[in-house]
Amino acid sequence: MKEEISNIKNEAIAQIMEADSATELEEISIAYLGRNGKLTNLIKRLKEVPPEERKENGILLNEAKSTIQSFLATQKGKLSVTARKWFDPTVPGAKPPIGHLHLVTQGIRQISRIFENLGYVRVRYPEVEWDWYAFEALNMPKGHPARDMWETFFVDGATDPKLGQTVLTPHTSNGQVREMQRIHSTGSGLPPIRMINIAKCYRRQSDASHVPMFHQFEGLVIDKGISVAHLKGTLDAFAKEFFGPERRTRLRPYHFQFTEPSFEVDVTCGICLGKGCKVCKGGWLELGGAGMVHPAVLKNGGIAPNKYTGFAFGWGVERVVMMKSCLEIPDIRLLYSSDLRFLRQF
Ligand code: FA5
Repeated sequence: MKEEISNIKNEAIAQIMEADSATELEEISIAYLGRNGKLTNLIKRLKEVPPEERKENGILLNEAKSTIQSFLATQKGKLSVTARKWFDPTVPGAKPPIGHLHLVTQGIRQISRIFENLGYVRVRYPEVEWDWYAFEALNMPKGHPARDMWETFFVDGATDPKLGQTVLTPHTSNGQVREMQRIHSTGSGLPPIRMINIAKCYRRQSDASHVPMFHQFEGLVIDKGISVAHLKGTLDAFAKEFFGPERRTRLRPYHFQFTEPSFEVDVTCGICLGKGCKVCKGGWLELGGAGMVHPAVLKNGGIAPNKYTGFAFGWGVERVVMMKSCLEIPDIRLLYSSDLRFLRQF
């Protein structure tokens, strides 16, 4: 009987290894382990074996049965992995949903491309900034009332005897003196500077037209003989490129501590093109601040104001992209609400 057990076991294993479908494995299982299977019949015959040989044959039969079962299970596993790997290239693909860049990111990329084409260098400066760069170097000493406009978040921690406390950048104008210092450190030590600084800004504000975290883009140009005419030309070039060729800008006198003279910049309304309509009322929409860099700021950046002049402007990215979208966005906070019904429109 021993030989019979061994032959049946080997025969079953050989067939299992050859099988290439679940049905075939099922048939083999029935042929050997089923009610009238070859191994089952041997088990039935065990009682005919002389008692002294019964125990040993019993053990061999059990071992053969479990070996066949385990080969059946392993081969079944292998077949299902192969089935999973099988790929039918003619089946139409499942399209994964593809997102798109956030409206503000799209705006940042377009703004930086426009200025890079005009020869500006894109820079970034720390978002946690020394008070000196954010205020003092810009003609706003401690306690100056002009600081109130910036409703600043102060950061607990490091203070420096010269640079003061740390703040979350309330505007990108901190980049002005930083950029002047960077130019010095490059070794050339001299303008021209053509900087575009696009960064996050933080203010303690939240209403329909203000969010506590927003983005500004700040332009700074310093060279010999830079005048308001260059500023106006640059702003017009930006407005035409960003909003459309028919748009124009205008400068209105204003006051900033760090520019002299200072301006508010307006752009013609996209609907009436400056004639005046129900949306814009007077034909113009407000864009943001600009001006000629104050001599004291140039000095703070180590640049001689009797040799060089410059202009700067700083505008809200959210504001310009909202104006460009031509959709009436009633509340700036919608941009950061993560509401896909809103964001998918852009
Ligand atoms: C400034 O921040 C000046 N640093 C701009 C400047 C730069 C003037 C260089 C002269 C020379 P102002 O506080 O107005 O200015 O902000 C500029 C723009 O930032 C605003 O017109 C607005 O578009 C945007 N902005 C300001 N605060 C918020 C806010 N809380 N949420 C969204 N956008 C804001």
